[in-house]
Amino acid sequence: MNQHTRLETTPIPFIDVVAQRRRLGSAIDDAVARVLTHCQFVNGPEVRAFEADLAAFCGARHAIGCASGTDALLLVLMAWGIGRGDAVICPSFTYHATAEMVALLGATPIIADVAPETFNLDPASCERGVETAKRHGLKPRAIIPVDLFGLPADHDAINAIASAHGLLVLDDAAQAFGATYKGGKLGALTTATATSFFPAKPLGCYGDGGAVFTDDDALAARIKSIRLHGEGVDRSEAARIGITGRLDTIQAAVLIEKLKIFPEEIAARNRVAARYSDALADVAIVPRTGNHASSVWAQYTIRLAPGRRDALAATLKAQGIPTAIYYTKPLHRQPAYRDFPLADGGVPVSERLSTEVISLPMHAYLEEPVQDRIIAAVRSALAG
Ligand SMILES: Cc1ncc(COP(=O)(O)O)c(C=O)c1O
Repeated sequence: MNQHTRLETTPIPFIDVVAQRRRLGSAIDDAVARVLTHCQFVNGPEVRAFEADLAAFCGARHAIGCASGTDALLLVLMAWGIGRGDAVICPSFTYHATAEMVALLGATPIIADVAPETFNLDPASCERGVETAKRHGLKPRAIIPVDLFGLPADHDAINAIASAHGLLVLDDAAQAFGATYKGGKLGALTTATATSFFPAKPLGCYGDGGAVFTDDDALAARIKSIRLHGEGVDRSEAARIGITGRLDTIQAAVLIEKLKIFPEEIAARNRVAARYSDALADVAIVPRTGNHASSVWAQYTIRLAPGRRDALAATLKAQGIPTAIYYTKPLHRQPAYRDFPLADGGVPVSERLSTEVISLPMHAYLEEPVQDRIIAAVRSALAG
């Protein structure tokens, strides 16, 4: 095997958390060491500092750190008192955690379709979902749009449906913190926004973490109480039923350092996405952000004619290039969710997308020569 051939099959990471760790180096070590010195592992000063940094970053009045993206969704739904007899409209083409807390609280997710260009909740299907809920004898209470793969949903259209029907909006921005919509950052665009700091997310920690954003003071106060076992006037009082939903101090310390370089990383992700799109637009359907939104590219996902992606994945794998499919089983096909109602008109776009999509390696540290190797391999596989 000559040098050239060996280089061509060197395994490429799908997401390179190691490269980011190298870049951050002693900044993270020092931040964690500070926590190990003061030993306030729960509710330490880094949590409050990170919440202030987060709120300033996205322009929300309140940023509330919590234990995961799932807990962020749960905290908001609990604070709103969502439960049995209530319906919450969720897109089908998402990670199933979007609807999980709705179901856990005894409410009913109404599963709506997405738009083919953005993979995000289709406002028309969402509106039909409101009628579907009523027909099932349920009270429509909320909409959970998802900013899938890092791209904001059509928030103006969804907020308009919500205000027409008196619904709450909880934006599931687990994959999209840092993205913008019509000049504003996610977190400040809807009644409440939830995000995740799972390590693979654009802003990830070194374990589990999440946050809720809201401008509503009363909602923020309820969420902070629920996050702490429903704490009332002080620790001895349980004013309401709550959970242990706090963000660890060590994770907050890590995230403070990561947030400092996040804007540069978002710019790098956009450069990577633009290079992919320029190079692949003639062989695949490449993602488009539209004029009024920017993505943080949690995934770079192309679409191929049904039946083509397995061969592409196998060819790339043989060359050390990983791919992933989000989502082969959309929500309505998951065993735990398939009995929940579909919005009138069904979810044909989600069905189709689940047979067409394939995601390529994407992260802020993808160097051009490595990306060129991926691009060349994709082009040659699709030409063959
Ligand atoms: C769309 C979406 N919602 C919610 C979550 C849940 O986040 P976490 O894993 O931090 O609980 C995820 C995580 O993958 C997600 O992708």
